[in-house]
Amino acid sequence: MNTEELKQTADALMAGDKGLLAMDESLPTCNKRFKAAGIPQTEEYRRKYRQLIVTTPGLAESISGAILFDETIYQSTDDGVLFVDIMQKAGIIPGIKVDEGTEAMPGSPNEKITKGLEGLDVRLNNYYGLGARFAKWRAVITIGKDLPTEANLEANAEALAIYAKLCQEDDMVPIVEPEVLMDGDHSIERCREVTEHTIKTLFKHLAKQGVYLPGLILKPNMVTAGKENHIKSKPDEVAKETIECLLAAVPHEVAGVAFLSGGQSPQDATRNLYEMHVKYEAKLPWPLTFSFARAIQQPALDIWKGKDKNEKAAQDMLRYRASMDSAARAGHYNA
Ligand code: 13P
Repeated sequence: MNTEELKQTADALMAGDKGLLAMDESLPTCNKRFKAAGIPQTEEYRRKYRQLIVTTPGLAESISGAILFDETIYQSTDDGVLFVDIMQKAGIIPGIKVDEGTEAMPGSPNEKITKGLEGLDVRLNNYYGLGARFAKWRAVITIGKDLPTEANLEANAEALAIYAKLCQEDDMVPIVEPEVLMDGDHSIERCREVTEHTIKTLFKHLAKQGVYLPGLILKPNMVTAGKENHIKSKPDEVAKETIECLLAAVPHEVAGVAFLSGGQSPQDATRNLYEMHVKYEAKLPWPLTFSFARAIQQPALDIWKGKDKNEKAAQDMLRYRASMDSAARAGHYNA
């Protein structure tokens, strides 16, 4: 484990006013998004779409690193240039999703545990050789009646910590993502309680594994009421609950915190990030940024629709959403 390299990579990912772009949708997730937008669900269309993203002019002004999916890390542009090479040349650090999705938890079928630890060390080694310098593992926590169970939180946190340790042994910065889902009608207070407990459980396991915190990035959900709750959380409430939760649960040593968007609209995700920065910036012991997928990509995907003639307009929208998120981090807001 090269702690100097890990810290350098983590600091570069969190630097300035930039953030991360998650473009690591698994095959089923990417195909689901394509189907909804009327785009053929083939490898070639996925390649064309990821090409559109990585060749967007000026993207690196707002994006420090992008998370790829296994299929994507091997893909190239129409001219045969590897996406990884395009990213490195633009100054965007390549990352890779390494979990293998979720499955029902034995004994608690309404909860999920994440797969992918088997053979992970070999895969990490291979990805490093292909140019990836950081990785992502997503655990999913469900709020419901009597959920989450303690067993589920412990199992997901343990897997995240083992993954993080393996990444660092291969000099790759782990992004640890314990996503408390927005699904449900729960209150913002309930989300706060579950998110805080989830993150505290995660850091207990990270300490047990001896994970080097200055070489680690936390990717949490923002604290909000559930999607089916008739009261929509306001930006000042989301900012207050989220920041108080993180200050209570996240050690000062971590390299940074980068939020997922979790199904919030792009405007809401941007606005909430802005609110946290303008109100709480001075109190934060770690840099705070974004690592959005849908909140950056969805409007661009809706414009593209799989048609070459829409490519430039889609790239303009992608760059625009990324630049709004970067502006929010800098304390400026514009929807
Ligand atoms: P969303 O921003 O769409 O929630 O995705 C972030 C992510 O990387 C999920 O793993």
